[in-house]
Formats: sequence, structure tokens, C-alpha cells
Amino acid sequence: MNYIETDGVKIVLRNFGKIDPLKVEEYVARGGYESLKKALTAMTPEAVIEEVKASGLRGRGGAGFPTGLKWSFTKKDADQKYIVCNADEGEPGTAKDRLIMTGDPHGLIEGMAIAGYAIGATKGFIYCRGEYTTSINTLNHAINQARENGFLGENLFGTDFTFNLEVRSGAGAYVCGEETALIESIEGHRGMPRFKPPFPGGAGLWGKPTVVNNVETLANVPVILDKGADWYKSIGTEKSAGTKIFILCGNLRNTGALELPFGMTVREVMETYGGGLLTGRDLQMVHLGGAASGIMPPALIDTPLTYEDLQAVGQGLGSGVILAIDDQKDFMSYICSNTHFFEHESCGKCTPCREGTARINEILHRIAAGDGTLEDLDNLKDLGEMMQISALCGLGQAAPTPVLTSLEHFMDKYVEAVSGKKNEVNEEAVATEAIHKSYYEAAPIKLD
Ligand SMILES: Cc1cc2nc3c(=O)[nH]c(=O)nc-3n(C[C@H](O)[C@H](O)[C@H](O)COP(=O)(O)O)c2cc1C
Ligand code: SF4
Repeated sequence: MNYIETDGVKIVLRNFGKIDPLKVEEYVARGGYESLKKALTAMTPEAVIEEVKASGLRGRGGAGFPTGLKWSFTKKDADQKYIVCNADEGEPGTAKDRLIMTGDPHGLIEGMAIAGYAIGATKGFIYCRGEYTTSINTLNHAINQARENGFLGENLFGTDFTFNLEVRSGAGAYVCGEETALIESIEGHRGMPRFKPPFPGGAGLWGKPTVVNNVETLANVPVILDKGADWYKSIGTEKSAGTKIFILCGNLRNTGALELPFGMTVREVMETYGGGLLTGRDLQMVHLGGAASGIMPPALIDTPLTYEDLQAVGQGLGSGVILAIDDQKDFMSYICSNTHFFEHESCGKCTPCREGTARINEILHRIAAGDGTLEDLDNLKDLGEMMQISALCGLGQAAPTPVLTSLEHFMDKYVEAVSGKKNEVNEEAVATEAIHKSYYEAAPIKLD
């Protein structure tokens, strides 16, 4: 795993490389579990929620929803509530959550216990992809240690608060990262999204109020309680407080993961930490945020990496992947390969996504083979926009984003492709997603 060191403030990776993640005493020696103690012995659940709200923390699972607000929406009166940590991390190129789970598992456990206290949940689940065996083993080891040391279990810190935690593993479907499919999967059913409403905060796991948060989101919580909302808000920008883990990959000199305050531009991060592009290459595009996010043209790389600035230019932060693609890579091969991923991962429950991903793929391959028409480009746009508004879950709603953003910024390449030029798409590689994977594998992050 390639971890890129930076000079700046660290929050979720503050202990990374500084402690042995398998030794709870090393976490405790660096102030670990003090925030949980503070919450349980000196704060009401409402005060914890207010502090998290005031910090400006937004969910790191992709949508950026304000965390404190989500907690405050949890139904109040219920005999049982749950906090669920989304550790599915199935988006190609994303490896940030494994960094936390394998490098500082107690930071996540402490964040979950605090979240449990805040919403009134006595039970938590960490839903982790089955392939991530190192993460699962590390978490189970840490949970046992936390229990043995009185940080999980009954009457924590002499209070009447009880909190238990369990790891559940998924079988490796991207859709199981969607919060309601994840809940179905924990319940033992096939992982397919539910209709919303009801939202999990009202009726989630086994029909009980449930908060689902990302690993990185929860790992921020102990530091917010320790240093205070004002300190946290002073990092990053007004609407994007704190830090974010970014994954640099593709055709950069240096690839790997790093934690940075929100606000540097895409160019600055790629040049300062990524070392720029490999010798003699020019930037063709940046696939920013992960497979379901937008394709960014070179003209937009001076945009700051914040929720608000990216949204203003029609892009998104997604899971924090910064995939640089140089001018030697075939444009249509990349787009086709990316779309193939979504057709493969669509769960098939709703028609717009089941049919839409297949038809988009079909049209793209036709264009890539040199047999496309200008009408195909209109159809791609119509299909993509139809999926955005009618697909049942975020998978189908976001799947066309790379196609729609690339139509917006790289129309010349599509027009060239439909104007009769026979393209060099390697069908076998596209079908096996080999091209797509090859970009991400350029980032040597092998955590499991
Ligand atoms: C297809 C799909 C896959 C997703 N995968 C993940 C994932 O791996 N991890 C994650 O935290 N959120 C994922 N999400 C978002 C979750 O549904 C949910 O919004 C998130 O876990 C909420 O946590 P947050 O508020 O802390 O960001 C996914 C959503 C979709 C539609
Ligand atoms: S949008 Fe796709 S993944 Fe989501 S429910 Fe519909 S078919 Fe399944």
C-alpha cells in the first residue's frame, strides 16, 4: 500500500503508521477512547448531535449529507435502534476505508460507539466486503480488545449505556453499498435496494430506526468531540469542513492515498503529491470521484476539491478518487469499459437501470466500433437523463454520469468516433473490464 505523507493536519489518519493497529493500548496512549468517555460522562446525546452538526461534518460515502442532521432525523421512540457502518467500499479505485480499518480500527469503533450513544442505539454493525479479509480480521481483533478493556459492552465508563458491535461481511456486489440494499443483505436477504421512503432513520434494519454512515465519516467523530466543532470547522472551507482521503491513481508519477484538508485544486494535488503526469504525456481527462462520478476535462482542473466548487462546475467529489488519464489512452475504450461495470453490477430490480445500462453499453460499443451515428449521441443523452430521474437507487441514477459529463466536455471525440473512424477498442479487454481495472491497479494499494 502506498501511503503519501503530507505536512498538513491529519484527522482520520492521525494514527496511521504511528501505532500498531492490533494493540489497543497504543490507541489509548494517543488519547484513544477519551472522546467516548467525554460523551458518555459529560454530554447528553442531544449535545453530541449538536456538536457534530456544528462541526459541519458531511458524509464521506459519496453524497456528502450533513452527519449531525442525519443523526437528528433518527426516530426518537423505538425499543431498538441500530448504527450501521458502511464498509462495503466497492467502487473501483476506492481504498480509503480499508486504510482506516486496517490502520486505525479503534478510531472507527470509538466513532461508532459515540454515534450509537447520540442516536440511542445499543447495537452496531460494520458491513465489510467479504474480500477484505485483512480489514475483517483487524476489526474483529480490535472489537475483542475493546470489549476486554471496557470500551464496548455493558455500562460503559460506569454509565447505563450499553453498546455492542459486530462485523458482517458482504459477498461483493457493488449495489450492496447502497444503504437499503446493505440493510437487506445484513438481514440475510438478497442485496437489492428498497423503495424510499421509509428512510432507514425511520425504519431500517429489521424495521427499526437505523443510521448508516461511511467508515471515514464515523472515524472523524472522536476528533470532533476531542478538539471541538470550532477547531474542526476551521479546517477546509466553510461548506466543506475538515479533511478528506484522496486516492491518486492512473498515469501519475506517484500514486497512493493521502489525507488533505478540503480546498486544494485538482491540479495542485496531482502536481504536488502525484508528481505530475508520467514523462512526455499530456492530460486527457480526470475521472474524479470514482466510476460513478464525472469525467473532468483539463480545463476544469483548477477547481478546488470541495463539495460546493465541484458542484458548481457539474462535478462531484464521490469517494475521493483522482484518476488521471493521459493522452495515450483510448478515450472510447475507457468509457466503454466504465459503462460495462454498471451493466454488470445493476441488480435488475428496476427497468430504467436494468435496460438503461445495457442500452448505453450497446450504443457505446457501436460507436466505438465505428458504426455509430449522430443520432446515437442524442439517444445516449436521452437515456442517461431518463436514468437520472427514474432509476430506483443511486446506482442507476449515477451510472450515466461519466457518459453525460464526457458528452458535455468531449463531444469532439464522440463526433470523431461516429464520423467513420474505426476505433481501436479491444473488445475482450472491455468485456473483462481489464482496461478499467488497469488504471486503478496503477495505484499500488493492495490492502487485502
Ligand atoms: C451503488 C451504491 C454504492 C454505494 N457504496 C457505498 C460504499 O461502498 N460506502 C459508503 O459509505 N457509501 C456507499 N454508498 C452510499 C450509501 O448509500 C450511503 O449514502 C452512505 O453509506 C451514507 O453514509 P454517509 O452519510 O456517512 O456518507 C453507495 C451508494 C450507492 C447507490
Ligand atoms: S437502479 Fe439499478 S441497482 Fe438500483 S434498484 Fe434499479 S436496477 Fe437495481
